[in-house]
Amino acid sequence: MAFNVKKICCIGAGYVGGPTMSVVAQQCPDIEVTLVDMNTARIAAWNAADLNELPIYEPGLAEVVGEARNRNLFFSTEIEKAIQEADMIFISVNTPTKNYGKGKGMAADLKFIELCARQIAEVSTTDKIVVEKSTLPVRTAAALKSILHNTGSAVNFHILSNPEFLAEGTAIQDLLNPDRVLIGGENEDAIQALVAIYARWVPTDRILTTNLWSSELSKLTANAFLAQRVSSINSISELCEKTGANVEEVAKAIGMDSRIGAKFLKASVGFGGSCFQKDILNLVYIARSYNLQEVANYWEQVILMNDHQKHRFADNIIQTLFNTVNGKKIAILGWAFKKDTNDTRESAAIYVADHLLNEMANLSVYDPKVPAEKIYIDLDNLNTRNAAENQSLVTVSADPYEACKDAHAVAILTEWDAFKDYDWAKIKAHMKKPAFIFDGRKLLNRQQIESLGFNYYAIGE
Ligand code: UDX
Ligand code: ADP
Repeated sequence: MAFNVKKICCIGAGYVGGPTMSVVAQQCPDIEVTLVDMNTARIAAWNAADLNELPIYEPGLAEVVGEARNRNLFFSTEIEKAIQEADMIFISVNTPTKNYGKGKGMAADLKFIELCARQIAEVSTTDKIVVEKSTLPVRTAAALKSILHNTGSAVNFHILSNPEFLAEGTAIQDLLNPDRVLIGGENEDAIQALVAIYARWVPTDRILTTNLWSSELSKLTANAFLAQRVSSINSISELCEKTGANVEEVAKAIGMDSRIGAKFLKASVGFGGSCFQKDILNLVYIARSYNLQEVANYWEQVILMNDHQKHRFADNIIQTLFNTVNGKKIAILGWAFKKDTNDTRESAAIYVADHLLNEMANLSVYDPKVPAEKIYIDLDNLNTRNAAENQSLVTVSADPYEACKDAHAVAILTEWDAFKDYDWAKIKAHMKKPAFIFDGRKLLNRQQIESLGFNYYAIGE
């Protein structure tokens, strides 16, 4: 039976669901797309009259939302109604690492997914195609199937896995022009219904169909490989610092080998984001659960290397500042886990800051897109010290020059383009001397910065 999809509902209006459904609605004006979320503040923000107030910052997103919103793109908290009316339901809720019980700190917490499945099972009165969009451990579809197929009603559910490969900061471009779209499933008609939606704007040779489990595992594997490249080059960055090699030159030299490729070889203070660490921990957990210890240990090393990179960056600041940062002001430029996003999940900045705070440093933070409340929440969530202590040791500035004033050192933790164009001579004039810059993103020009009289440290040089 061929499916004719006229209405789509997406549960979860976050960093994945929001941009993805906005682009689907933009590209398919004849399909009604409703994004629902239980977070009423988030839905209100998606409906904000001022497009600069959308809950997610992503270049190009406001334009897409502006075009489709209230035409065929709707944001709502009426979850049950949207589920009932939809032919196709995307599940795009968060799947954080479990912070309790079995698999604590490793396994993905599937409680949000399960809640969605139960809600869909409960309120559906017509057949549905249910699409897993969130990154999930392999065989989650089995759990979904089991819940949806045991409702006792006559409603049929077809489950598809359609992992999203967009990267934050380039989400709209990635969605409009994806390297590939992956659709896993068991029912050919259901698969073709989703293929037909993407085929409106993606060339069909880039739409890949597989079985459910291959699709689920491909997503975890893609993120694990990408993260592994970053940890690999970061491991070499430390060796470069000891030997006089320059990691940028090494990356360029190896990247020109077409078998290796040039992308994802930028040494940094460490990868962050909601996906890499969570997905690898998940892979490790799954491997261990099948008793594949060598496989688990192999991938775990990618995380250990990443943790090491963040710690050694912070340690280097302490050591260089004459072995103490107690009472010293250190300016942190950048809090987001990468440029062009306001997302801070697992950002290296959080861990570097925490390490410096343990040494009683005073921090002043500036990020062009992350609000002060978020910075304090991120630190408070670590539970290293109480909220009052974080408040007293950390200030958040709305102005980068103010953040750097009277600082002993500046640490660059996100590669925001604007940082390159700052008046660094002016910044130095108002810093304590000797003035240090610790560049965790290799963003600045060493020659220019040193000619201003800074002591400049960059990863891998
Ligand atoms: C990633 C995947 O790229 C994407 O396909 C998947 O859907 C979700 O996870 P994202 O987390 O948004 O996307 O960002 P990404 O660009 O992959 O960067 C992740 C982290 O690695 C960032 O902290 C980034 O700064 C860091 N990174 C990336 C490096 O340090 N060096 C690099 O060369 C590349
Ligand atoms: P991602 O990066 O995967 O998109 P986010 O945390 O940005 O993750 O977004 C996930 C969204 O899913 C959140 O806004 C959260 O409120 C929403 N959500 C989680 N569980 C449910 C649920 N059962 N029903 C509706 N929305 C949900």
